[in-house]
This record gives sequence, structure tokens and C-alpha cells, in this order.
Amino acid sequence: MPENKIKVTTATGRPMLHWVGKKPLDYVKGFPTQLVEVFDPLSQRSLRAEGKAISYNELKDNWHNLLFHGDNKEVLATLLELGFRRKIDLIYIDPPFKSGADYVRKVELRGLKNLGRIEEDEASILQQTMYFDIWNNDTYLQFMYERLMLLKELLAEMGSIYVHLDWHVGHYVKLLMDEVFGSDGFRNEIVWQKLSTPKAQTLGFGNIHDVILWYSKSNEPKFKEIRLAHKEEYLKKMYRFVEPDTGRRYRLHDFTQKGQGEPRKFGNKILKPPPGKHWIWSQEKIDEGLKKGLIVFSNTGMPQIKRYLDEVEGHRLSDLWTDIKPIGSVATERLFFETQKPEALLERIIKTSSSEDDIILDCFIGSGTTARVAQKLGRRWIGCDINKGAIHLTSRELQKIISEQIKNKETKYPTFSIYKVNDYDLQLLKTEAIELAVQHIGIQRTRTDRFFDGYLGKNLVKIIDFNHPLTLLDLQLLQDELKKRPDEDRDITIVCLGKELAVDSWIDEWNKKHPVNKIKVIELKTDKKYGSFLIHKPAEAKVKIERRDTKAIIEIQDFISPTIIERLNIDNKLFKVKIPDFRSMIDCVLIDTNYNDSTFHIIFSDVPERKNDLVSGKYEIEVPKDKTKVAVKIIDMLGEEVLFAEEL
Ligand SMILES: C[S@@+](CC[C@H](N)C(=O)[O-])C[C@H]1O[C@@H](n2cnc3c(N)ncnc32)[C@H](O)[C@@H]1O
Repeated sequence: MPENKIKVTTATGRPMLHWVGKKPLDYVKGFPTQLVEVFDPLSQRSLRAEGKAISYNELKDNWHNLLFHGDNKEVLATLLELGFRRKIDLIYIDPPFKSGADYVRKVELRGLKNLGRIEEDEASILQQTMYFDIWNNDTYLQFMYERLMLLKELLAEMGSIYVHLDWHVGHYVKLLMDEVFGSDGFRNEIVWQKLSTPKAQTLGFGNIHDVILWYSKSNEPKFKEIRLAHKEEYLKKMYRFVEPDTGRRYRLHDFTQKGQGEPRKFGNKILKPPPGKHWIWSQEKIDEGLKKGLIVFSNTGMPQIKRYLDEVEGHRLSDLWTDIKPIGSVATERLFFETQKPEALLERIIKTSSSEDDIILDCFIGSGTTARVAQKLGRRWIGCDINKGAIHLTSRELQKIISEQIKNKETKYPTFSIYKVNDYDLQLLKTEAIELAVQHIGIQRTRTDRFFDGYLGKNLVKIIDFNHPLTLLDLQLLQDELKKRPDEDRDITIVCLGKELAVDSWIDEWNKKHPVNKIKVIELKTDKKYGSFLIHKPAEAKVKIERRDTKAIIEIQDFISPTIIERLNIDNKLFKVKIPDFRSMIDCVLIDTNYNDSTFHIIFSDVPERKNDLVSGKYEIEVPKDKTKVAVKIIDMLGEEVLFAEEL
């Protein structure tokens, strides 16, 4: 076995679900990581090894939180390589469901509502697709299976994993969890009521709940019970009595329980429990209760226990969670991320299944809810997402939280680093890319064929979702489909963004054996003729940076993002009229006063609090006395970045 291969434990639990192309992960390999940004407002630079992700051993006593931009399969494998095996105390994931819907983050340009220029204008809302959520069952199951196997390797012995799902795939994933974590590892299926009333639908009962599966490795994972306050009506009904001298409200509780029991002494009376019952307190407890006035006698002489309202702990939380509301349209925590989960939900999970300083992992971080809550609760965290917009959003919100915590001296973990694993710059284009590919290559779309997407000349065309490379599983599905169509004699063109290595030899072999149905691949990433449309014009900025003694005076003089203009679908000339202040396009500005050309250390960040506020665009910042490079990173509303650096 080559050295850099990491063994993954075989899943042996029962039952086992089968799907086309099921293949356990035997070995994985870590990937190169590139440190792209560090948020380190207290300048604890010594904590970092420049350029590469730090291993668990290096980090454990000098922790900084980690945010990875990349496919989580590769990120989880990399974490294993970095020594995180069994080091993660709690995992929460909220993977994309096979819902058939595209998840969209609505991006609004800043300040336009205030200016009142294009109010009500739909065009100011850019629909940026965050990820493409349409997968076929088999690929989805294989996708989840691989991630779950890796997560199990990372989970600590006393740790827990929570997987957030809904009716689409909840039942399949439970079987995967049984297989990977063993059915002994099952702790709860939590039903979270996410809506109070169903959305309008034509038929059937409206769905208003999600399912959260909780599994653990050990039978006694960390668990801190949560008690919920009783409803006021219940308390009013139950705690009807008031003690005249103290004013304390109390209720009377039955003194017996089912079973057989002995008579006990209640002062100078000896009382037998009723038939089939026993007294719930021991003789010592009864004697003490009588002394403290906690036992009273009913008219029939039956003892009863007094329970005071001010000592009520609340009721034990069940697996039906109806008290946590989703992020509504006016919620202050709303980040305009379609699948954003409420912080209260994560708070409950994190408080129940972890302690302070524990490491919490979410490898489908989305808008960063898990990281935000972990940070607020004094836990350490690791996040990951394949989408640059999600990484940017998570980073931006965490910066706000940490800055506030530093002001109030409230955190032990004021630093986080962003690493990139492989190259995912193309993510921004994901869903549009398929449409673009169709137009650009000249594919004639067909909507009637269940499997093929259209024709190119005489060839049948299959487009592989751009969220994964062409794999052997895709080819197997193609082969299965062709078996069902014995009369099909056309050749096949597969359009994909990239392809796995093993694919080429499979296709060569296939083409040798098949006089018809020959396969040709258009790989857009490398294709000179067709791939050119993937190159998009980057945003541009005009920035003035000057030294005045020990300060840098920075002014952003202009900014333009061709992608935003294109998506707003407005003419270049009209653009200036509709969006008079270029700062509307800027989401935030980050500044590094000692830039080393590779890693960006965020020394200052201008992240407007509210969505209608603009960045300032003008800054005066203390810089080192000696020669230094000041870098300004401008991130636009689509998460695209422009870097501008000047030696002072
Ligand atoms: C349902 S959202 C998570 C929402 C999150 N819980 C929140 O509160 O904002 C799922 C996220 O998983 C990400 N994702 C999908 N496939 C991924 C992959 N292979 N690796 C990493 N992230 C992925 C998507 O980009 C998306 O942001």
C-alpha cells in the first residue's frame, strides 16, 4: 500500500442498502491544501505554518478554527491525513436533499433600497445558485455513503453525529447510517417541526417537518439533558395551591407508584400502601419530608407530596421539537441563504452533545450556522463547503462575531483560517454552466428523453452534472440505459466538466468492443473549442494606497463586476444610472497590512452590519514602519474577489 493512502474501516453494520455502483471506500488520499486567508485580528501570527494546513498535533494546544473550500470528500480525507482521526467530538451535517430544487441565495446589491432608485426592481436581486441539487438516487447514495464512512473515522469515541434530512431521503440515509455506524449507534430520530402550517399544495398532507438522525459510536456518548419550561396553562392548572406564609405556589403529587410495597411510618401513623402500589419514598425520606413540611394529608388521610413551582426544572425534552421556528422573512439572523437553519436548532444540538472547547465539524456548512453557534458557545470548529459564496458568507459572519467577542474579551478562539482544497473557482458558474454549455456547444435539447439531454449532430448527448467529474458510475448508468435500448445505433457524446482518470481506459475498451454507440467525451475544463465560455471576465477595481507616516491611506475609487452587470441583464451605459454608487456591488473589504503574496491575513475588515449599508471605501490604517506590502481584498455580492496590493 503506498504510504499516503489512508485506510478506511469497512462498514459492517446491518441492514445494508444496495444501489447501482455501490462501492465502499477502502482507501482515501489527502489533498494539497492552500492557505488563502487568515482572520487574525489579534495578530497571533506565530500560530500558523504558512502555506499548508496544520496538523492536529500542531494545532491542539494552539488552536485556530478551520474553514475549507472544497469538496468535502477530499477535505475529510485531508483531515484524516492531518491527524484528525477520532478527534472530532460532534458532527452536524445538513447535506443537500435530493429534492430536485436548486438552492438559491438571493443577493441584493447594497444600499439600493435607501437610494430608492431601483426599488421594486427585481433585477437588483441576483439569483446566485449555491449548488445544484439534482442527483439520481444511485449517485446520491454513493455520495452520502462515502462521506459518512469518512465522518465515522473522524468521530471521537464519545462523539455524536447528527444528520439533518427530510422525507426525500431520510429513510435511505437511516439505512446508510445503520450500515456505517451500526444500528447500535442509533440514538434518536428527531422530528423538527419547521413550519407551523403547510405550504399550499394540491394534494395530500402538507409536509412541515424535517428529520434529524442522531447516531454515536459509543452507547454512552456525551449528553447533557435539556429541560424545557412548562407551558403557562399547564403550570396554572397544576400549581393551584399557595402557601399562605411564604406565598410559594405548589402542587400535590401522588405518593404511590405501581408495584408491591411495605407499610411505612408517617409520624405516629403506620400506613399501608393501597393494593398493587408502593410508597415512592424510603422511610428516611418520609421522616425528613415530614420535618420539612413537604408531606400533607388529604381528607381521606392519604399522604401527598408538595412540589413547589419555583423548584420545577421543566419537562424532559422529547424527540419531537416543535419550539424552534425556522428563519422567517423578518428574522434578524436571516442571511438570504435558502437552506439556512436557525441558530437555536444548532444551539440545542451543540449544548446537548458537546462541552466547551470540543471540536465541532460541519462539512456542508452553507451559511455557517454550525460555526457561528460553536463560536458563540466557546467550542472549536471546522467547516467546509464546495461553494465559494457559502465560504465567503460563513467567513464574513464569523468575523463579525469574533470581533464582538474580542471587544468583550469573550473568546479563547479568535482566529480562523480558510484553506482551499483543489480548485473550485468554477463553482460560481455551476447551474448556469449546463445551460451555457447547451447554447455554446449547440446541443439541441430534448425534454422528452428520461436519460439523454439532447442531440449534437447525429449523436445522443448526455450532460454530466457539473458538481462532479465523469465517473465510472456514470458510465455504468449509461451502459445500463443502452442495454434497455437494443435498437439504439447512434453514437454518444458525453459533456462533462472534468473526468476521473479511470474513465479514459474504460471508454477506449468500450469503443473497441462496440461498432455502434461509440462514446466521445467533451471535457469542458480542458476543451479548447468548447471550454472557452467558462472563462469569465473578472471584476476590476481602482484602488489608491499611500503611506502617511505610520499609516496607510486607502481609497477604493472604482469597482466593476462584469458578472454582476451580466446577471442584472442591463446595458453597460444604463448601469451607471441605475447603480450610481459602485459600492452597491461590494459586499466587504478586507485589508492586510503586511501581505506576503501568498496568504492573506485579515488585519482589518469592513463588513457592513446591515444589508443596506455600504462599505466605507476609505480607510486609514496603522502599518509597520519598515517597508511593507498593503493588500486590499474586495469581495463583491457574488463572492468574487479582487486583490489589489501596493508596496509602501
Ligand atoms: C443544505 S445546505 C447547508 C445549510 C446550512 N446548514 C445552513 O444553516 O446554512 C448544504 C450545503 O452543502 C454544500 N455542499 C454540497 N455538496 C458539497 C460537497 N460535496 N462538499 C462540500 N459542500 C457541499 C452546498 O454548497 C450547501 O452550501
